[in-house]
Amino acid sequence: MEKLVIFDTTLRDGEQAPGASLSCEQKLEVACQLETLGVDVIEAGFPIASPGDFKAVSTIAKKINNCMICGLARCIRKDIEKAGLSLRKAKKPRIHVFLATSKIHLTHKFKKPESEILDIARRHVKLARNLCDDIEFSPEDASRTSRDFLFKVIEEAINQGAKTINIPDTVGYSYPQEINSLICDIFDNVPNINKTVISIHCHNDLGMAVANSLSAVLAGARQVHCTINGIGERAGNASLEEIVMGLKTRKDVFADLYTSIDTKEIFRASKLVSNLTGFLVPPNKAIVGRNAFRHEAGIHQDAILKERTTYEIMDPKDIGLPGTHLVLGKHSGRHALSKRLQDLGFKLDKKNIDRIFEKFKALADKKKEIFDEDLVAIVEDQIKPRREVVRLINVRVESGTDIVPHAQIELSYKGKKHTARSEGDGPVDACFKAVDKITRLKPRLLQYKLEAITSGKDAQGLVKVELEHGKKIVSGLSSSTDIIEASLKAYLDALNKLF
Ligand code: KIV
Ligand code: ZN
Repeated sequence: MEKLVIFDTTLRDGEQAPGASLSCEQKLEVACQLETLGVDVIEAGFPIASPGDFKAVSTIAKKINNCMICGLARCIRKDIEKAGLSLRKAKKPRIHVFLATSKIHLTHKFKKPESEILDIARRHVKLARNLCDDIEFSPEDASRTSRDFLFKVIEEAINQGAKTINIPDTVGYSYPQEINSLICDIFDNVPNINKTVISIHCHNDLGMAVANSLSAVLAGARQVHCTINGIGERAGNASLEEIVMGLKTRKDVFADLYTSIDTKEIFRASKLVSNLTGFLVPPNKAIVGRNAFRHEAGIHQDAILKERTTYEIMDPKDIGLPGTHLVLGKHSGRHALSKRLQDLGFKLDKKNIDRIFEKFKALADKKKEIFDEDLVAIVEDQIKPRREVVRLINVRVESGTDIVPHAQIELSYKGKKHTARSEGDGPVDACFKAVDKITRLKPRLLQYKLEAITSGKDAQGLVKVELEHGKKIVSGLSSSTDIIEASLKAYLDALNKLF
């Protein structure tokens, strides 16, 4: 088995994502999680970029014990010296020097010929090597660099002591076959290539960063640059979680490779980076998106309950999630519902499940997702034994800033239909008064409590009322996405206890 080195650049290229800046403490928090995750190299920042970056790299270098800590530097003396300085306390330091090599960069950015660039690379890799044992060199924009020049620069960097040669697809222009043949060509044409490790660094401008990285691995690259959640400059970098899980899931393709990543820490790392950077993970993001292990279609849910692997190629527990999540909603079937009811501790017979299923479907038409609390409320409402002397048939309310609230209700009371209309201080008060007109009981309202029992704008409201009538005090409870309906039903629930 061969090891694939995981080089995490969340704190350098990831933090270059517009709007993703992290404080020194936050960077250290991420670095600690990356250490727990088991990455091999943490690129902690670009020390020359700012005093904040210098401090973050030095702090991480001092505190992290198990990962190699890397600082980025251009092929400029003061960059390299600053990087060396920031890594003084690192147990395993690495300086990553880079220099653009493509014609387009040479012409417009440097205005220098290839011969001069080759010389700059030679001198600065040597300088870095004098300051640090472990040097990585990146010919920036390698995928758009002429092959012959690229081979020469790489050969020279290795001659000067670069232990790793990183191949950046800086602008995310390549596609997988191209990257594969680029890596193969480097192996075939750079004479001293076996003295170094080939690394790959892909950007996601065309959405191919992970595919390109894995394609490079198949061609022999043994280090991958990646970031948590794929954050990074522009459209981002190759995502760590996708690369690692790709390798783990497709052992048939990557048979002789392993990484040191503890995949159970992936979800935690993703959450942490998302929370600290404020970059929300899209729900459909592979591996760590909210929907990545959630199943909504009834057919899928049924099959998953019979055998998880019918619709899941990875076990959610492997990335640190508690398990598969069946989203209960209008597409869910009886099988998924009764399994969830069982998990919630309800032991229900078929007749009760049928009744609850009916209510569940009705609610699912109003609410996108049915949460566990919704189910508990439905079950409590359905299996509660009760004598229904009074029952709601229909209610209509009107209220607003410029009208007196009023309610028109229709009840079944002692086996007969009754209607009544009343005004009130608010729509709920109008409803209660209309009920009192029919029952003529007029109990005293001791308590009225409304609370949201589920989250979101379509949450269910749970209403509790307490009534006093003569010497009796009774309470009623009901829930609905419509708080007027919930209030009225809670009132009737309490009234039924008076008869
Ligand atoms: O994308 C890139 O080329 C880089 C280099 C600094 C490696 O981030
Ligand atoms: Zn990059």
